[in-house]
Amino acid sequence: MSLKWWQEAVFYQIYPRSFADGNGDGIGDFIGMTSKLDYLQDLGIDAIWLSPHFPSSNWDIGYDIKDYCGVGAEYGTVDDFKNFLTEAHNRGIRVILDLVANHTSDEHAWFLQSKSSRTNPKADWYVWQDTPPNNWQSCFDGDAWTYSPERGQYYYHYFMKQQPDLNWHNPAVVEAMWDAVRFWLDLGVDGYRLDAIGTIYEDPDLTPHNVPHTLSSLRIYEGEAKTPEEKEKVRKFWAEMFKYQHGQDGVHQRMKELRSVLDEYEGDRMLVGEDDNPAYLGNGEDELHLVFNFPLMQSDGGLTPEHIIKNQQTRLAALANISPEAWPCNTLGNHDCARVYNQFGDGIHDAEKARLSIALMMTLRGTPFLYNGEEIGMSDYIITDPTLLTDTMATWYYSQLVNTQGVSKEEAAKRAGIRSRDKNRTPMQWTSEPNAGFSPPGIKTWLPINPNYKDGINVNDQSDDPNSLLSFYKKMIRFRRNHRALVEGDFQVIELANKDVLCFSRTSFAQSLIIVMNYSPIQHHLSFPPLGAKQPKLLFSSAGRNNKEFTLEGLKLGSFEILISEIAY
Ligand code: NOJ
Repeated sequence: MSLKWWQEAVFYQIYPRSFADGNGDGIGDFIGMTSKLDYLQDLGIDAIWLSPHFPSSNWDIGYDIKDYCGVGAEYGTVDDFKNFLTEAHNRGIRVILDLVANHTSDEHAWFLQSKSSRTNPKADWYVWQDTPPNNWQSCFDGDAWTYSPERGQYYYHYFMKQQPDLNWHNPAVVEAMWDAVRFWLDLGVDGYRLDAIGTIYEDPDLTPHNVPHTLSSLRIYEGEAKTPEEKEKVRKFWAEMFKYQHGQDGVHQRMKELRSVLDEYEGDRMLVGEDDNPAYLGNGEDELHLVFNFPLMQSDGGLTPEHIIKNQQTRLAALANISPEAWPCNTLGNHDCARVYNQFGDGIHDAEKARLSIALMMTLRGTPFLYNGEEIGMSDYIITDPTLLTDTMATWYYSQLVNTQGVSKEEAAKRAGIRSRDKNRTPMQWTSEPNAGFSPPGIKTWLPINPNYKDGINVNDQSDDPNSLLSFYKKMIRFRRNHRALVEGDFQVIELANKDVLCFSRTSFAQSLIIVMNYSPIQHHLSFPPLGAKQPKLLFSSAGRNNKEFTLEGLKLGSFEILISEIAY
């Protein structure tokens, strides 16, 4: 079976500001990232998704772009970028960039010109109205319409007010964006992750939502929702509140155009959408190559075998509906959500569950995306001093709690710290030296460093330990690479009638693998459906089993054990 590189690859997301500080200013940069490519090669990943590295006003840390064809001064220069790309390619590592197409920074030259008058050449590059035409909310900071005194009109922003939405109905905007795309493709990048791609168009009738909340009151309600019913209600409100602001007609046409821009280039350049809607794969060949399977990581009840099975069956069926070639893409974490270690841990067996998570990523069907730091078990670091928060979404939430809800400053700081995405973006922990080897000792880093770097949560300490989480990641990544069925095989659930145990097969032309994972601390005695004359061979056991005594019949699966066996044909 011949697959494209992005179907075989393990992707690794780098959040540039937090990866490695090469010039000692407390902020990650290209010199730092380049110096860590050997580490990434040794980890075994095949491709990097780089979160935005462009000049930015940093209200949304890079996702408010001032120049699509530049490099933020804190990260280095275009030459530093080129060097990073060449060095990555030299090691067989591809690089995809973040394309933030929905909005720019309010300091982008396009917006500065657009807001300067109603008649300038870029007057129609953003979404302007004389008065707010509806009750739409920004998903980050209140009303979606903000007044510009210079122009005497309101502009629309789905995200923060510092992130005005571009007007994608204007062909000049489309052309400018595709030019930016070509700029980096010409330099040799291997593709793009498309930020918030479903939000580029709004309902043309500007229909108001009918949720009895503002963003502020909904966020507060969300923070207080405890029962599954309350949480479900919040989800429904969110969906209702924003349904006229994303997923509108027009996106497919643009994705087709973007796809043809990429297809002008050699080397199978690829697109992955920050959206879980398989419809953005078009007919399977004419829009995006991948969309993320976000529902996998969105489970109130945690990552249970039942949830995983339901998710995979639904997802694979939805993709098959698009085309037999439509390819899955799984992830458990990124810079917008709690770290894998916390999100899927239970506070007691976090270390075991972190191993189950990477084993799952490496054995499911589809391209896996990992997030920097998860390989050493980096955990959320909740910042409770609001003056240290950099995530505008959280600082806005803090001010809403204090100023409109009368919540005490102390309580508001706690809640804002938990909600903030700063907690999962703290600097990468390389060593047990002061500043975790991220920046030189004594330098103030852009976000505080999680003090657990001193307790073995760092690359150096774990590299030397064959039993560390890092060593386990390397083992699992290599295992995937060396077993073709994990890349190209189909996925079938094996029913064991045991709610704690996940069991499935991955079968390709060349081999059939059975994967068994115990999601509980309890040992389970399992009874497998008859395998006939076929004798299973043990390939991997996290419990260090011995192949000579191995049989699936009557298997006693240990606490949190991960086991992979092969059925010979
Ligand atoms: C999605 C990105 O992942 C997130 O970090 C950002 O804040 C929004 N899009 C806006 O660009």
